[in-house]
Amino acid sequence: MTRNILILDTTLRDGEQSPGFSMASSEKLSITRELLRLKVDIIEAGFPASSPGDFASVQKIVEYVGSKAVVCALARALPGDIEAAGTALAQAERARIHTGLGVSPCHLKDKLQMSPEDALNSAIKAVKLARTYTDDVQFYAEDAGRAERSYLARVLTEVLKAGATTVNVPDTTGYLLPQQYAELISWLMAHVEGIDKATVAVHCHNDLGMATASSIAGVAAGASQVECTINGIGERAGNAALEEVVMALDLHHKELGVSTNIRKDELTRASRLIAAITGMSVPANKAVVGSNAFAHSSGIHQDGVLKCRSTYEIIDPVSVGARASQIVLTVRSGRAALKHRLGELGYTPDPASFNQIYDRFLDIADKKNQIYDEDLEVLMAEHGRALEALWKLKILQVSCGSPLKATATIVLEGPNGEECDTCASGTGPIDATFKAIDALVAVPQAELLRFAIQAVTRGSDALGEVSVQLSNEQGQIFSGRGADGDIIVSSAKAYLNALNRLLGSTDSSLDTRSNK
Ligand code: KIV
Ligand code: ZN
Repeated sequence: MTRNILILDTTLRDGEQSPGFSMASSEKLSITRELLRLKVDIIEAGFPASSPGDFASVQKIVEYVGSKAVVCALARALPGDIEAAGTALAQAERARIHTGLGVSPCHLKDKLQMSPEDALNSAIKAVKLARTYTDDVQFYAEDAGRAERSYLARVLTEVLKAGATTVNVPDTTGYLLPQQYAELISWLMAHVEGIDKATVAVHCHNDLGMATASSIAGVAAGASQVECTINGIGERAGNAALEEVVMALDLHHKELGVSTNIRKDELTRASRLIAAITGMSVPANKAVVGSNAFAHSSGIHQDGVLKCRSTYEIIDPVSVGARASQIVLTVRSGRAALKHRLGELGYTPDPASFNQIYDRFLDIADKKNQIYDEDLEVLMAEHGRALEALWKLKILQVSCGSPLKATATIVLEGPNGEECDTCASGTGPIDATFKAIDALVAVPQAELLRFAIQAVTRGSDALGEVSVQLSNEQGQIFSGRGADGDIIVSSAKAYLNALNRLLGSTDSSLDTRSNK
């Protein structure tokens, strides 16, 4: 039999509690809209007693949600808090009050400064009062992870008798190991009277990075509600991340015998919305929603993923609303990845050309972090130009600066494969380079008409693409382009490309335009 696990999203309450994460009312409504698209079962909308603003935004959320989800409001086990929650939820079609107090020795002694007996009575009274506002009352036993078991069981038994319908067992400080938390849930299932008729909720914090693992362990032990936040935002190290919990339950639904109502394909959108609203970007390596979650960079992984996605992916990115698996081209990428991406861009070079292209790719990738499609387009254009070139650039070295005189030393390969070299000086490194090329490729009266540089992609390591225009003595115009991570090299390549076209222009109508 499959158990349906309820998802209580507390992004708007526990998430908003984290420092610097407070949200405007309009932002809370945008998040509510997304939570409805996700189809979360319960939206914990806020803590109405905490401020008039929170009270008003719970009311607005109630109005917005209608009957589409349960709207829950937090209240400490204090009459004022419960009245505020009940009033803020008054118009809700499906209202839940979430009340409770600390139950661990240090919460009782140091925070509440109450005896265990007094705390138990307050808990019972709180639940009874909450029941006067709604039939749906959830009780939280704060810091249950560090509570004395027999006392915890007693409190939960009594609040269930008082009318609570859900009992929440928070590991408030994220202290327990997943197996310890699972064991606690199992123990409570066996020792709390009436728990079989209630919903048991898990609420885990991430202080040791185990909030998701503990939540799943709690479900395996019998809990049927998970409390979580989008991107795992929340107090200190945060709460269990909704996207992680949902995907773990989904991938392991058979062994766990569970299902959820969540629309997985909304997970990426929800994550981006929260990141945009809180200004807290998601780490690239974050599970499920990080920008690298489906990116493959090493050659071995790329080869595997291209042969069969599941070799290195357990989640289909499209199923969580992300872009299909990305093959990130870097210096670690293998031939298979480059061939695949070139194919997607419409290039199918023959094997000999591909080898040259791959060498050039490695050359560029060595200097750049990542190779983008625009870089590949330039690389392919460069390759085409190199094939038709009479004169090829072999070595270029420039020295320049202030107050240095710019000089360029150049080695070219000529039309018959011979190498020749020279050096020249000029007003700057590009002028010196062009003069050195002119000295080797003697083209009478070639005039430089236009010279322009532009970056191909982003970042200071971007390829620079240079375009030049030359005219010959008849006034015909020849264009040239060159690209490289070094703009002096790009300039030399572009200049040579234009000269090669000029020299090869037996039928000038093919490559040139007349300016007359
Ligand atoms: O972490 C916690 O114990 C809580 C309760 C208020 C449910 O957030
Ligand atoms: Zn919490």
